[in-house]
Amino acid sequence: MTNIVNLFASPESPRDDSSREKSPTGKSMGEVFLVGAGPGDPELITVKAMRLLQQADAIVYDRLANPVLLDYARKHCDLIYVGKKKDQHSLPQDQICALLAALAGCGKKVVRLKGGDPFIFGRGGEEVEHLAEQGISCTIVPGITAAIGCAATTQIPLTHRDHAHAVTFITGHRQHGKMYINWDLALQKDSTVVFYMGLSNLQEITSELIARGCPVDKPFAVVAQGTAKAQQVLVGTVTDIAEKLARHPLPSPALLIMGDVINANGYAQHLADLTSAARPQASEILEVI
Ligand SMILES: C[S@@+](CC[C@H](N)C(=O)[O-])C[C@H]1O[C@@H](n2cnc3c(N)ncnc32)[C@H](O)[C@@H]1O
Repeated sequence: MTNIVNLFASPESPRDDSSREKSPTGKSMGEVFLVGAGPGDPELITVKAMRLLQQADAIVYDRLANPVLLDYARKHCDLIYVGKKKDQHSLPQDQICALLAALAGCGKKVVRLKGGDPFIFGRGGEEVEHLAEQGISCTIVPGITAAIGCAATTQIPLTHRDHAHAVTFITGHRQHGKMYINWDLALQKDSTVVFYMGLSNLQEITSELIARGCPVDKPFAVVAQGTAKAQQVLVGTVTDIAEKLARHPLPSPALLIMGDVINANGYAQHLADLTSAARPQASEILEVI
């Protein structure tokens, strides 16, 4: 890992910089790639993202990007952790933006590696904006967002001709102590709702949904550490899922999925029917209560 003091050294193998833009200090400008690492399973990263990781002079990475991916970095690549934990930012967002600009400003090819997709609750928009203001080239490389990854590994289809004609991604996160959920959107008929960052607010979210008219038997699932070997899934209804979670706490990161699609494919029933002897190994995925 790189000492912060050495971050602005020249890249290990200088590229042909003759045609590149110069920074105000006369140095050739580097560039930034906002790269989605995909969710827990490192194999879900794209080929393009992998190539960029292998070429980067600096990788600025988050807590949710699987650290195994850093093994693909070049030997002298700067590996800079800027991850955040709930209510605890190791580096404030404006300083992350400034760091990216500074690294690119001294000619580096910078990969900003984020869990999932950079533009889904990933603050990618803020980073692009900052880099654009500084005149720094920024390319977005999409990643598989957690909802898509978890849908695949749990076999919960987010849309389905018979059950859901729309899917909505909502943040269940609190800002300044308050949740900013558009409840009308969450309660749309014939749709699936995925709440990101809602694990610790599950009780409040489900109570509010019921109070606003959500059918009490609406299927609800919690998927923790989705797509990773340690993935765990809890299935219930909007009425009992918070109580189930209280009895069987799950680790973060976790997604909340609400919708009739949870019962499509007989998925929930299949899990409920599994005897403990027949249950798959923990490493295979499922823990259902
Ligand atoms: C700050 S958001 C980042 C989302 C990310 N940009 C994406 O596209 O997946 C973090 C939230 O994403 C969800 N999340 C990310 N990875 C996950 C995973 N492997 N399993 C379940 N949820 C995950 C959780 O809700 C977590 O609180």
